[in-house]
Amino acid sequence: GVCGYAHYMLKEIHEQPKSLNDAMISRVDALKGTIDLPELGLTKEQVNQFKRIIIVACGTSYHAGLLGKYAIERLTDLPVSVEIGSEFRYAARRLTQDALIIAISQSGETADTIAAVKDAVQKGIHVIAITNVFGSTITREAPSTIYMHAGPEIGVAATKTFTSQVMILYLLALYLSKQRDTVAPQELKQMIVSLKSVPQKVQQVMEQESYIKELSKLFSNSGSFFFIGRNMNYPVALEGSLKIKEIAYVFSEGFAAGELKHGPIALITTQVPVVAIATRSPTYDKTISNIKEIMARDAVVLAVASESDDSIGRLTKLVVRVPDACEFTSPILSSVVLQLLSYYTALYRGCPIDKPRNLAKSVTVE
Ligand code: F6R
Repeated sequence: GVCGYAHYMLKEIHEQPKSLNDAMISRVDALKGTIDLPELGLTKEQVNQFKRIIIVACGTSYHAGLLGKYAIERLTDLPVSVEIGSEFRYAARRLTQDALIIAISQSGETADTIAAVKDAVQKGIHVIAITNVFGSTITREAPSTIYMHAGPEIGVAATKTFTSQVMILYLLALYLSKQRDTVAPQELKQMIVSLKSVPQKVQQVMEQESYIKELSKLFSNSGSFFFIGRNMNYPVALEGSLKIKEIAYVFSEGFAAGELKHGPIALITTQVPVVAIATRSPTYDKTISNIKEIMARDAVVLAVASESDDSIGRLTKLVVRVPDACEFTSPILSSVVLQLLSYYTALYRGCPIDKPRNLAKSVTVE
């Protein structure tokens, strides 16, 4: 065992209340309602010169970037696009100096992401790197770096570093909105209070572990999975789907719930479990409609839902509860559920969890 855990992945999933708290230390002041990111080295004037943001990353870090896009667009006046590292250089759009690039890489060594950073820096564009590894290559290429402080991640699957990336992106969104005066001080304060409660709520999610383990056993012989979600739960679905592919070796697809009826629903059968992220959000009702479409085909739906949702149990008996939370916090909580689901599914399938075949912790070739 690894410090009392069977695998690094499980240990790292359980470390999240601490790693999420560490991401906020000395940056978030809940009493004053302020966010401080001195490591950026940017003046208010510089922050106000940006006209748009491009987030660049690969794999799980790309999914964190998608959540970052929602947060930044919700809190600031800046349009954000998210690009895959290996595609960044080949895009036809013209890069101008009023763009800000945010490059996300846990290892700081991913060749495709670093190539994008070099390209942008060469064109005189400001780059903020978000990484977990001190002195990694990306920190030497990018003019600004924000460290995640998540501690070393040994398991090949990104878990605690995913939620830390999301947290850092939220802090950055709040910081940008403060500097650009796009958020009311009261709202900023509320958001900060809500983020401060994340570690404790993640701890509460762990209380569902034995139930998630049971569900994983139930589904461990399924040949494929679907993961669906809307809005901020869409990247959560993509990340849940990636995790189960790489760790449990099960074919899986993540979809925006509304896209299902445009094709993939043809693949829905009683043999394909659908994991639906259906926590309370402005798109809750529409997600429920999508779940009904699936249930009408006799497929099995496993829902991730809010604690206070007492109607979803009438649709499906398989419901994992997460604490009620704001629209930013909730995706972090649901992601932890899906990490545990992948872990236990892989365990029942006898997979080498910390070292899945064909994968390396950092991908240093383009
Ligand atoms: C998935 C995973 C990979 C990485 C990707 C980017 O669990 O670990 O998809 O997220 O290779 O790695 P970094 O963030 O180091 O650039």
